[in-house]
Amino acid sequence: MNQEKHWNTIAPSYEAEIFDVFKSDRNRILPRYFKKHANKLHHAIDFGCGVGKAFPYLAPVFKGVLALDISEECLSTAMQRPYKNISFKHADLSSPRLKIAPADFAFCCNVIMLPEVDKNNLMFRNIQKSLKKGGNAVLVVPSLESVLYASWQLIRLYKKEGVSVKKIPATEFDYFKAGKRELVQGIIHINGVPTKHYLQTELEVLLKEAGLTITAIEKIEYDWNTEFDSSPRGMTAPYPWDWLVECRKK
Ligand SMILES: C[S@@+](CC[C@H](N)C(=O)[O-])C[C@H]1O[C@@H](n2cnc3c(N)ncnc32)[C@H](O)[C@@H]1O
Repeated sequence: MNQEKHWNTIAPSYEAEIFDVFKSDRNRILPRYFKKHANKLHHAIDFGCGVGKAFPYLAPVFKGVLALDISEECLSTAMQRPYKNISFKHADLSSPRLKIAPADFAFCCNVIMLPEVDKNNLMFRNIQKSLKKGGNAVLVVPSLESVLYASWQLIRLYKKEGVSVKKIPATEFDYFKAGKRELVQGIIHINGVPTKHYLQTELEVLLKEAGLTITAIEKIEYDWNTEFDSSPRGMTAPYPWDWLVECRKK
């Protein structure tokens, strides 16, 4: 898939189509991490900034922020936000030739999720290269465990209503319409778009290979209505989640 074209097409309807991690983060985990790394003497990079939803958290607490995205359409929306200390770069985070002045902090939320897994690894590596020694990154990526868990809960819901697994409409499992080779790589179809999802253990291996030391892995939890049309009654924790990975360049 051509990422630039894909995201330029989505840009005009971004608010309606793209999941808002910041609004949905039930336990307000992200603001806690922004606060932890805030430093008015430091520079930050927002990789795959989209329409700039992280800016209200980054711009006030860092000296400068570089907002990078592959989509010029998303960037032009992001540029309309009222911050003076943000500069913008149109670039592909998966490019082996990406060159950026190293920063103290990197944020990358729901970007490293391409079905071409080698490109994702280039993105992890580019984030590592973009950090100063001792610099920190906070990455948000889709969780494969969460998708499987939500499907397990769906099966239980149907069972309560007397519907056996075999009788559940096949469309309920459209997430898993990838072939075997895609599925074992964690490629799940979200609204028809093949999207890489990660196991926690896989992240531990991949980030180490990219030269980053993990300092924390946490769940960013969302309400059940992000998985099902309405929040089924009585369905509480554990909630569906994305992985938040905090890591450091030694
Ligand atoms: C799901 S949106 C997330 C946006 C933002 N990080 C947020 O959380 O609101 C993914 C963003 O990543 C950008 N993106 C996708 N592939 C990219 C790449 N290879 N290099 C840079 N940006 C990319 C898209 O243009 C889009 O703006």
